[in-house]
Amino acid sequence: MLPITVLAGPASVDLASRISKELKADLIVPELRVFADGESKLRFPAVKGTCIIVQSTYPPADTHVLQVMMMARKCADDGASEVCAVVPYLAYARQDRPFLEGEYATISLIARLFAASGINSVITVDMHSQLGMSQFTAVGIRSVSSIPLLAEHAKGMNLHDPIAVSPDAGGAERVKAFAGQMNSDILILKKSRNRSSGEVTIENPEMEIKGRDVVLVDDMISSGGSIIAATEVLRKKGASRIYAMCAHALLLGNASKNITKAGVDDIITTNSIPNEHAKVDLSRSIAEVLRSRYNPGFS
Ligand code: R5P
Repeated sequence: MLPITVLAGPASVDLASRISKELKADLIVPELRVFADGESKLRFPAVKGTCIIVQSTYPPADTHVLQVMMMARKCADDGASEVCAVVPYLAYARQDRPFLEGEYATISLIARLFAASGINSVITVDMHSQLGMSQFTAVGIRSVSSIPLLAEHAKGMNLHDPIAVSPDAGGAERVKAFAGQMNSDILILKKSRNRSSGEVTIENPEMEIKGRDVVLVDDMISSGGSIIAATEVLRKKGASRIYAMCAHALLLGNASKNITKAGVDDIITTNSIPNEHAKVDLSRSIAEVLRSRYNPGFS
């Protein structure tokens, strides 16, 4: 079998290092230079065999996306037998369709650019939608669920009569899986978003939740608008402690502060994006998928 090398993208050095340890594979950390005009330049030795690039594409999203493609193209041109991009947080996944006239489903462009960069397969985490996944036609894609890990963490939180809540109908399957593992009740809120202003509105739920602990489960927290709107209605209904759990915590601007101010007791997320709330490690789950793909006899 050809060797496996893990290439640590500048955005995900810690996660890449954990994955390489899980796989007992070599780790290369490319040298990065960022020029005054914002251009990146990456330098690393040629990789033979299977090359696994690890890089989440959180902000600056365009820079991180381009860095993934730069690393991939170089690996492919250097003669790697296979290039796999592990992109736990995949930017543009929410742009899976034109919402307003004149818009474009940019995730389909990302899929085509990845293919042109020599990427053979993509492993992501909690991909936003099936529609987004379906745009990856020339490149294989697999989405690893963070739900078992998040639910396992929640089980250790000593919650009182917990309810797993999705801020919107789009997260129904996610919250069902979470509640199934927690053996808890479910509440799916009705959310609407103004597509021009981005403002989020959530209807008051009918369910009685007074005195119960709540875990809000979402794929990502970006501006925090969805979690804040959900927390406001849950607080009005008398929820006790409220926790926000997600795979990807972008927490843009003052999101973290605003979420706390709205009444969320804690934010718990994975290390898909490095930040102070990243308490759940994805490396083992990602490594398992990589192992079964590249070394089927192993597990
Ligand atoms: C929406 O469909 C997603 O699942 C998230 O709820 C949303 O993207 C979170 O964004 P924000 O924090 O800006 O409300």
